[in-house]
Amino acid sequence: MISRLAFHHLAVGLALVAGLFLAGTPARAEYADVVLNRYAEKEGMRPVIFPHWFHRIRFRCKVCHAELSFKMRAGSNAVKMSDIIDGRFCGACHNGEIAWSVENCDLCHSGKAGLPPGIFGGHETLGPGRW
Ligand code: HEC
Ligand code: HEC
Ligand code: HEC
Repeated sequence: MISRLAFHHLAVGLALVAGLFLAGTPARAEYADVVLNRYAEKEGMRPVIFPHWFHRIRFRCKVCHAELSFKMRAGSNAVKMSDIIDGRFCGACHNGEIAWSVENCDLCHSGKAGLPPGIFGGHETLGPGRW
């Protein structure tokens, strides 16, 4: 009897922990890596890995999500290489001044073949080549 009660408490406890964990998931995109692959692979380049956390600790959200017009939904931004070279989106910083320039193709196009656009990882952001 005592052990069944103990088991019951354990089960309730686990359910609470699971509930807290699920309630926490919408924010995980702030930390994880984002894959951008609307065009890259169709055009013969590996998918792009964007380490969100790495950038988020260096810049305010509004730099990218207001000033640079990145919409806050994975896969929703139509980013072309010509925009980046013209200094828009990633190219506002990856210009050889604020950060290394667009010539470093492989640092951005580091995803494994076949990765769809989306969020990868949870409280981990592992950057180029991980996914
Ligand atoms: C700072 C990051 C970054 C660097 C460096 C970079 N790219 Fe891209 N590239 C992107 C992003 C982001 C996209 C859009 C990905 C998507 O949604 O498919 C993209 C898309 C592309 C595309 C898809 C078609 C098009 O015209 O947009 C090609 C091809 C491409 N890049 C080639 C290159 C080459 C070649 C280099 C090196 C000379 C390079 N990229 C360097 C971020 C980068
Ligand atoms: C250096 C630029 C940059 C900064 C700074 C930045 N983000 Fe993002 N964020 C992005 C990019 C790029 C994407 C992916 C867009 C895509 O896939 O089309 C993204 C995606 C997102 C998403 C969508 C996730 C999903 O599940 O679809 C959310 C939410 C988000 N960012 C929130 C934030 C918040 C909150 C901050 C500040 C704490 C922040 N971002 C800072 C560039 C940035
Ligand atoms: C607001 C400025 C800013 C924007 C916009 C930005 N980056 Fe960066 N990014 C940086 C800085 C600064 C670094 C660090 C450069 C260094 O270490 O010299 C960096 C580093 C990186 C790294 C290397 C991370 C590591 O682990 O070393 C990758 C990959 C990267 N950026 C991809 C992108 C892609 C893809 C985009 C567009 C979707 C983008 N960045 C947009 C500023 C930016």
